[in-house]
Formats: sequence, structure tokens, C-alpha cells
Amino acid sequence: MRQTVAIMDIDVTDDGLRVGGSARTVDLSWSWLRDHCDDTSCVDPRTGQRLLGSFGNESHETPRVSLDSSCAAFEWGDGVTSISLDRLAAVSGRIDPVHSKKHPASVGSDEARLWDSARPSAAKEPLDAGEVIAGHAVPDLVERMTVDGFAVLAGAAHGAEAVEQIASKLGYVRRTIFGDVWELAAGLTDHADSAYTTSSIGLHTDATYMHDAPGVQMFICQERDGTGGESILADGFAAADRLVRVDSRVADLLTSYDVVGEYVEPGVHLMAERPPLRVDGTGRLVQVTFNNYDRAPFHLADADADFRDAYAKLGREFENEEHWCRLEWEPGQVLLFDNWRVLHARAAFTGARRFLGAYINHEDLDSVARLVGRSGDLQADDF
Ligand SMILES: [Fe+2]
Repeated sequence: MRQTVAIMDIDVTDDGLRVGGSARTVDLSWSWLRDHCDDTSCVDPRTGQRLLGSFGNESHETPRVSLDSSCAAFEWGDGVTSISLDRLAAVSGRIDPVHSKKHPASVGSDEARLWDSARPSAAKEPLDAGEVIAGHAVPDLVERMTVDGFAVLAGAAHGAEAVEQIASKLGYVRRTIFGDVWELAAGLTDHADSAYTTSSIGLHTDATYMHDAPGVQMFICQERDGTGGESILADGFAAADRLVRVDSRVADLLTSYDVVGEYVEPGVHLMAERPPLRVDGTGRLVQVTFNNYDRAPFHLADADADFRDAYAKLGREFENEEHWCRLEWEPGQVLLFDNWRVLHARAAFTGARRFLGAYINHEDLDSVARLVGRSGDLQADDF
């Protein structure tokens, strides 16, 4: 079967669809197509976010295919899904990526202690929010952020002022499309995102659709009653380290090819791309990026199947509960974490669960960490 639609030629082959687009001809496997369908069973029409699990649902069956002027539909053994021609055009309109081999030589800063055995120290004893705001506990806060990748504070006042005060110790509140200090609670309609529901949310890093993803994310709990709703953290550096130490091919793939992130709401269409494991010029792993909800369609030509397999392995490494850290919430509690290292998730919940939050730049965390590391006799007024 062949159909020419707009600027695309679409052929149905034994293995999938061959799509000739504006930039290249790309062979999309049945497995890829199943993962990228965008009908309402696969993508939330309100938020544009993916509804399917990350990986592990790869299909090797051959579906019955039908094409029309808007989509290609697939009849699988367990249902019917479809992919819009706009998605196919977006994929075939991208230039073939070039593979450049990079194997991580080291992971994170020298101070980082990966969570491979004991629970991280930051989870054990919260710092006092007042002591942080007064400056006395800033070195402790910075140490936990650099060693464990997160910190917990207790006793913060309600309201945006406390968010600003704590953020000022690490830099400043970054303004994004979500504003500066933002509110997070079920039922808010300011933005179309799964964060504003009561559902569970899987492990992810935020803002994969921003070229410079926020380096630190902060939540202050304003209100909490009901059941569930704990936060789950996973050390992305440790997961990556476990994986790349045993499989150099996977390391090469995950450091060399970009994954595209996308966020769409009325008046906004953000896109950015970077590899799941980003290394700096010295080969040090400096950023983990992983968000299945906001992953946009992309296809890596000959490397696609291998890359998807590697990406799935990374996802499964994050899902290893042995290395998770769970946090219950109560009003006044604060969580700060390194969004370039630590993935976060949320359990489903009932009742009221309301937060204020903010983003802070990674370079500002790096800056205060250098200051603390350089001088052991900094005074509270210095922060
Ligand atoms: Fe998030």
C-alpha cells in the first residue's frame, strides 16, 4: 500500500511504515509506531502529554493498517491506535542525527555520593528552615545538595516569602512560563499538565523542553491531609553509573543521541533536545534528562532500535525501588533537589495537597557550592 499525503510518501512494509518526508526517508518499525501513536488512548488531548508507559510495551506483531488524509490507524491484537500525519511529518522532516561516541569517564562532582547502598544522609535529619534563612545552615544545605542531590528542611512559614528567602540562599527564583513562585495543587487550571491532578506521576526530571532545564527544584508544603501523595526520589547519577559500568555500548548511545522534549499549551510551544546522559568536555556525567510524559516524537534512523533499547534499560534502572527514597509530607516541610541529577515522582493521593514551588538555576547552586568549598569561615551574613 502506498499513499502520498501532503509532502510525504507513506509505504506499508513488512516491518512498519516507510515515510518519505521533507528531509529524509525513515523506516518506522511497528514497535516505534505503537509507542508514538497519538490518538486519545495514547496522548492526553487536554495536556498533550503521553499516557503510555515508557517502554516495555514494544510490539512485534504486524497490525492491519489503514491510511486516510489525517492519520495512519493500526489494528493490533488488543485494540486500535493511530498516529497523525503531522507526527509522521515532524519525524521525517528532521535531519538524520550524527552519532559521536562519548563514554562517561566519571559521574557528577567529586563530592557527589551516589545512593548505591545506604539511604542518603539528606533524608535522615531535616535542616531547620529558619537556620537556613538566617544563613547559619546554608553550608549544610549546600553540602547535602552536592553530596546527596537533595535536602529536606522543616518549619518553613507558609507563603511565597519563605520560598523567596530560601531560594535566595542558593541563587534566585527563576521566572518561567509557570511564573516565579508557582502553586501546585490538584484542580488548578493555570497550565495543562499532569502535575495538577491527583494521579501518580512516574520518575522524571522537569523541563526537558527547556534548553537550560532548571538546576534546582524546590517545594514547600502548604497544606496536606488525606492519604498517599508521598514523593519518591531516585539518584539518576547512581542509576546511570550502574548501567554504563556494565554496558559501554549503552553508554555511548545514551550520551550521543538527543531525546526531544516538548510542552504545548495555548500560546506556548516549547521544544528542546539533549542526550539522556549529558557529559561535559572532560567526559564527566553532568546531567541526567528523563521525562516520558513530555517526550516528543523522534527517530534515529539506523540507531533507533538500539537507542530505544538503551533508553528502556535506563528507565528500568530508575525503577529499581531498592534505590528509591520516599518522603512523606507535612505543612512547612521543604524539599530541594538537583533536577540535573535526581528524578522525582509522586504517589496518587486523596485529600488536600498543596505546595508552593520554584526553580533555581544550576549555575547558581554551583556558584554557592564553590564559595562554601573555597572558604570554611564564611559568616551567615555572607549568604
Ligand atoms: Fe515534576
